Amino acid sequence: MTGAYVAGAVSCLAQLGIPDHIDAAPKSAEELASEIGADAQALYRLMRATACVGVLSEGPDGKFSQTPMSKVLRSDANPSLRAFAIMGGREWHGRGWSHLEYCVRTGKQAPEQIYGVSIFEYLKQNPAEAQIFNDAMTDLSTIDSPAVAEAYNFDGIRSIVDVGGGHGLLLATILKKNAQMKGTLYEVPHVLEGAKSGPLKPVMDRCTLASGDMFASVPAGADAYIMKHIIHDWPDEACVKILKACRKGVNPGGKLLVVDNVILPGNDFAPGKFLDLQMLIFPSGCERTEKQFRKLFAASGWQLSRIIPTAAADSIVEGVPA
Ligand SMILES: C[S@@+](CC[C@H](N)C(=O)[O-])C[C@H]1O[C@@H](n2cnc3c(N)ncnc32)[C@H](O)[C@@H]1O
Repeated sequence: MTGAYVAGAVSCLAQLGIPDHIDAAPKSAEELASEIGADAQALYRLMRATACVGVLSEGPDGKFSQTPMSKVLRSDANPSLRAFAIMGGREWHGRGWSHLEYCVRTGKQAPEQIYGVSIFEYLKQNPAEAQIFNDAMTDLSTIDSPAVAEAYNFDGIRSIVDVGGGHGLLLATILKKNAQMKGTLYEVPHVLEGAKSGPLKPVMDRCTLASGDMFASVPAGADAYIMKHIIHDWPDEACVKILKACRKGVNPGGKLLVVDNVILPGNDFAPGKFLDLQMLIFPSGCERTEKQFRKLFAASGWQLSRIIPTAAADSIVEGVPA
């Protein structure tokens, strides 16, 4: 019941940039408060609370030092989860969760009830929040992308399209690891613009940027179509359109690689089950079980061939033409 208190405290710590201000030497609440402009007693109470869940450590002299879980909240950590932690404390995020009951009763999304627009429209209208959201997605991608590139054997795949590939971190990681491959980043025009100066720069000689609408078509003639955190954003009917477009474009014997959380049956703890609630509150997608992926693939001309786990929370759901 107090999980939200913990998330709120960690988010505030990241927002204030406290882990960025602690280097080798431990620091007191007074020192940190004067550096960042905060009330020393209030800051002490915040850090005392996060330290009891392993985010900072309080010494016998009352000074705070870094722990592995506070280090990951530094802006310069690699990977860093600072933006992701900050996002959890934003007003739109909190208001969304406070509307969970509405979402469960109606099956509708909270931002439409609160702001009258979808979450993506809300972010478009609020660039500062969009920046936090995009940075949070990049944080997650710095963990997911190497895990995916490591887990899958891309031998025999000469060309790959990353559908909705954002600024191209996953594609860049795959191309760097597989010198035989050529890649295409497929995105909406304004995201593609941002990708030009992004992680793909060192592999641009093997990479094409293509813009379009993934629900209508994808660049044709590739050996593989990969999409990370795309399918979980959308309801089944919309996913079928994307997967059918890939089926139409894929070379004979090619592959579909869907990178998402795969929900396991049973009562075991799985963070994906809570991420799924985010999907219920904000966009209109969901995290899926193997059975649901199998059905989605079959409805789009693909056959689910195997599920490959990665070192991160995502798995690679592989499909072959049915
Ligand atoms: C949740 S993000 C995932 C980005 C990236 N794959 C990652 O894992 O970091 C969804 C992406 O889908 C892209 N997208 C949304 N609608 C699209 C469309 N109709 N055609 C192509 N891309 C689209 C968005 O621009 C966004 O970058």
